[in-house]
Amino acid sequence: MINTRTPLPCHLYLIGFMGTGKSTAAFELSRLLKVSRIEMDQMITDREGMEITEIFSLHGEEYFRDLETDTLRELVKKEPSVISCGGGIVLRRENIDLMRKKGRIILLTAAPKTILSRIGMDNSRPNLKGRMSEEGIRELMKKREEFYQAAAQITIKTDKKTPKEISEEICSRISGFPEKNG
Ligand code: S3P
Repeated sequence: MINTRTPLPCHLYLIGFMGTGKSTAAFELSRLLKVSRIEMDQMITDREGMEITEIFSLHGEEYFRDLETDTLRELVKKEPSVISCGGGIVLRRENIDLMRKKGRIILLTAAPKTILSRIGMDNSRPNLKGRMSEEGIRELMKKREEFYQAAAQITIKTDKKTPKEISEEICSRISGFPEKNG
């Protein structure tokens, strides 16, 4: 069990497919640990002055991925926080190395059905355009599975759990998770 009274020693990065509840869990977890919460996508859209769909359509996905990596390089230097990452953060090995440098990586998962019920009405994610079905989600999830597994130090299933339950589970699992750095 993580000790919520001693200072957090390093960042906690929440990763996972879109709709696995990273942002809501980050909100609860940061409250529980009394540390700041950082939303990477929010940082990027604030800086660029445009929404993610606009960044993708104007500059392309690679440009967005460069912004993600630049943002991570900066975050590594900041005080320990709970950081909610965009779903594609694991696609670059460099990002995984940066996160491990001063942090622990927690993977949130959910079934395609759960994801569809959480974000099915939301069209703000360019990589789900034309894929908003259980099948479409499952297909992209499959392509990304190895990247998530390569990054994860602990994995938490989020189906049928509240953000509070998820963040409590993270705290209870954190001391025992294996050191897979390097
Ligand atoms: C992406 C996930 C999004 C956002 C962008 C790309 C992805 O974040 O970074 O639309 O490729 O998985 P969320 O996982 O917070 O939706």
